[in-house]
Amino acid sequence: MVAAVAAVRVAAAEAELALLAYGDAVAGCERCALAATRTQVVFGSGAPDADLMFVGEAPGFHEDRQGVPFVGAAGQLLSKLLAGVGLSRDEVYIANVIKCRPPGNRDPQPGEIEACESHLFKQIELIRPKLVATLGNFATKLLSGKPDGITRVHGVPQEVSLGGNRVLLFPIFHPAAALYTPRMLEVLEADFRRIPELLGTAGRQTAAQAPPPQAPVQAVAETATQLGLF
Ligand code: URA
Repeated sequence: MVAAVAAVRVAAAEAELALLAYGDAVAGCERCALAATRTQVVFGSGAPDADLMFVGEAPGFHEDRQGVPFVGAAGQLLSKLLAGVGLSRDEVYIANVIKCRPPGNRDPQPGEIEACESHLFKQIELIRPKLVATLGNFATKLLSGKPDGITRVHGVPQEVSLGGNRVLLFPIFHPAAALYTPRMLEVLEADFRRIPELLGTAGRQTAAQAPPPQAPVQAVAETATQLGLF
């Protein structure tokens, strides 16, 4: 028993070191043209052995300057939503689909996602989260492997295989979509409230047991579509 606990701790320490080493290697990434315009690679931040991981879209201006994901206005809302369910940023891991800021905060291009996605898959493999909350369309489509947009699938957990492990994927709206839209904030808060329960059941719950999707938020969706968040 003691030997088994020690073995688990050694494995966790090795995974943490491997994540650090991988972050160092990615800091010099030149797989796509964003290497020429970024200030720095924004690898990810938080607990290297987190049960809960968030995956956003791409670093923005502030993230590019500070080298940390979700530190701008959307990030502040993310921290607030986390606090609302009793979690802090230090207890979760936060990363993005692409690690470098697209100029002018434009949407990531398919070639950029393709070039960068293995960095995210490696992070997931090393962190081994139980629950991965995808923020918005880009992360949801990439990690679910399905074309369904966030408006359709938000709030509905799905079982997927990521980094060699079964993971519960929980698509939610991107916090940026809720910054100026009170109705969207309510939807996001409602989805966040499910996180503690999902963390408890992650690894056991199947998609068949998941509750039905909430009522569509069409009017809000139209606004956010214009923001490129869906
Ligand atoms: N939006 C994202 O998707 N990621 C960030 O890191 C910041 C804003």
